[in-house]
Amino acid sequence: MYLGVNIDHIAVLREARKVADPDPLDALSICKRAGADQITIHLREDRRHMQDSDAKNIIALSSLPVNLECATEESMIDIACDLRPHRVTLVPEKREEVTTEGGLAVVGKQPKLTDAIQRLQKKEIEVSLFIDPSIEAVNASLNLGVEWIEFHTGKYANIYAMLYTNLSKTHHSIPELDLSRTVLKKMLKDELCNLRQLSCDAMELGLRVAAGHGLNMQNVTDIVEIETIEELNIGQSIVARSVYVGLEQAILDMKAKLIR
Ligand code: PXP
Repeated sequence: MYLGVNIDHIAVLREARKVADPDPLDALSICKRAGADQITIHLREDRRHMQDSDAKNIIALSSLPVNLECATEESMIDIACDLRPHRVTLVPEKREEVTTEGGLAVVGKQPKLTDAIQRLQKKEIEVSLFIDPSIEAVNASLNLGVEWIEFHTGKYANIYAMLYTNLSKTHHSIPELDLSRTVLKKMLKDELCNLRQLSCDAMELGLRVAAGHGLNMQNVTDIVEIETIEELNIGQSIVARSVYVGLEQAILDMKAKLIR
């Protein structure tokens, strides 16, 4: 299973002080050495972590394919078309959110989305849509003519955290609830079942399937079992572990988890 390493959180640390270090560019060779298959970066409209110069340098200098996540705003698509990463993943963005909290609205008429996809494809950039795991979103993505979809695993990760850690604060798609372990176990099983079924459906329809958000060394195990998911994009948990074990080891450890 392929691993896209999202290095945004290296820039988060740098931006916390507005200094030069750590520079996400320095991570490229480490990611490659550790066996990452792809570098993933998110250029947010508010530039809270990655800056334009980061995106430009990373795309120009990476020897691994770069997956640029961005919103469908015209100005972001202009940048993506100009930088020409190998893939663009279109994501929803709200300025006030802590992280990307849900999938893209793909159902119904989405002229802005259609326009963004066409512009990117004209530049021979693969397009992926970050969607919630629903059959409506899969079908809509297929109709939009993209090569990839990426399922938002935030809900799965959140249920997992409520079940196996003392996490009480949530910022994903399910509200804070006082649920019994029996109920949470059932919810986790249902969410995994849903991801498995939809990945299979999507693959049969000819879409390539990625997944990501909130995945870590513990909760990734059951996701790896879903054979029709080709790739995971993982960021926060890898960069968090790298504080203690180093980036190379954190990637090596995650990559080992992805062996089927
Ligand atoms: N995939 C997409 C489309 C994302 O937006 C993000 C978060 O930026 C990730 C994967 C990685 O999520 P995390 O940092 O929680 O591993």
